[in-house]
Amino acid sequence: MIGVTDREDTMTNTIRTKVGIIGGGPSGLLLSQLLDLKGIDNVVLEKHTRDYVLSRIRAGVLEHGFAELMREAQCGDRMDAEGEIHEGFEINDHGTMHRVDLAGHTGGNSVVVYGQTELTRDLYDVREKMGGKVIHEALDVAIHGANTDSPALTYRQGDETFRVECDFIIGADGFHGVSRKSIPRDVLNEFEKIYPFGWLGVLSRTKPVNPELIYSKTDRGFALCSLRSQTLSRYYIQVPLTESVEDWSDDDFWAELRARLPDDVAARLETGPSIEKSIAPLRSFVAEPMRWGNLFLAGDAAHIVPPTGARGLNSAASDIYYLYHGMVDHYLNGDGAGLEAYSAKALARVWKAQRFSWWMTTMLHHFPDQSDYDRKLQEIELAYLLSSEAAMTSLAENYVGLPF
Ligand code: FAD
Ligand code: DHB
Repeated sequence: MIGVTDREDTMTNTIRTKVGIIGGGPSGLLLSQLLDLKGIDNVVLEKHTRDYVLSRIRAGVLEHGFAELMREAQCGDRMDAEGEIHEGFEINDHGTMHRVDLAGHTGGNSVVVYGQTELTRDLYDVREKMGGKVIHEALDVAIHGANTDSPALTYRQGDETFRVECDFIIGADGFHGVSRKSIPRDVLNEFEKIYPFGWLGVLSRTKPVNPELIYSKTDRGFALCSLRSQTLSRYYIQVPLTESVEDWSDDDFWAELRARLPDDVAARLETGPSIEKSIAPLRSFVAEPMRWGNLFLAGDAAHIVPPTGARGLNSAASDIYYLYHGMVDHYLNGDGAGLEAYSAKALARVWKAQRFSWWMTTMLHHFPDQSDYDRKLQEIELAYLLSSEAAMTSLAENYVGLPF
């Protein structure tokens, strides 16, 4: 039996808490930590082991508002010590590099380069230190009575079945989780766009090719040079959806990446064995509304963006910001307005991130079936951006993160 929360019935394996959170990814853990700091009892159910969650290599760029939320969660020390502040990035337009001055176009704002893996590790560590209830290998999680005043979750661990009774359920269980699927089809509206390519990503223990990120547009397709630290590089190349990781040896990857960089940058590219290699298909997706009764969706459970522009994790963080404040108002101030407004408020920002990610993706990738007219428009979109202070300001304000 697990030791848990407000009240516990050992005979029936029933746990009572205020907020039942499905998913121990960044969204679920961050909300759990913020609520706990305000004395709002909660339980996180995660279907995988901690090691498995930490083995997934994902996002790397945090908006300054997200970094601030990590500090508020008392979880920003390592991020501040080891993360890198980036005040700009580069765009390679067919061999010519152009710098996007984020700080200059936003009154001094910047982003923090710090990996999702490290951020998640920090959240696990702080939850553990505070005695937070994060239950791993919680299988067959099911939602009951989401649209009633007595919602509950059930799950299985080994042969035992547990029931979590709560006031609210948070679906922070990613795109493939159970939460969104528990909402009736006639309640949910889903919007989706699939792109005809994916990103092949490689992590390597090599010095990054450039101090700042490079988003690279070439006739061979898109590439991104990113980093996790001064000894750990993260690179991506656009690949057709028909390709698989096995089709790409490390040597092939490095050769193709080099071919998508300006000659002088390619010449200084340090290569080495990949320590992770994966392909992510590109997809835009939004589910509306983000609340059904006492079930609230957050993060990838409700919306996905193509990675160009690094909005995915950051959009998850803005959902958590709204949910956290809504919960605090509800429990500490007796004010339900924040939770009432959650879906509309979160979606307003989510759709702006959708627009930005779609725009960056469309401008920088090679589209196999593009008409000549569309190609001309794509070229002029980038040319306009690079020639206009107003367009650069728009890019910069979106990249550093719109206000919550
Ligand atoms: P997740 O991280 O998916 O976490 C959900 C958790 O719920 C997981 O731990 C999962 O195991 C658990 N879970 C699922 N189902 C259940 C269940 N039934 N019961 C219990 N637990 C369950 N974003 C960026 O901003 N920048 C990037 O560079 C970037 N790169 C990415 C690269 C890849 C390959 C991928 C897949 C995503 C990338 N993203 C990026 C997106 C970003 O990683 C996600 O937006 C972010 O992980 C969302 O966090 P989350 O907590 O909402 O969901
Ligand atoms: C990374 C991924 C992105 O999609 C992006 O726009 C910037 C950085 C990364 O994984 O480092």
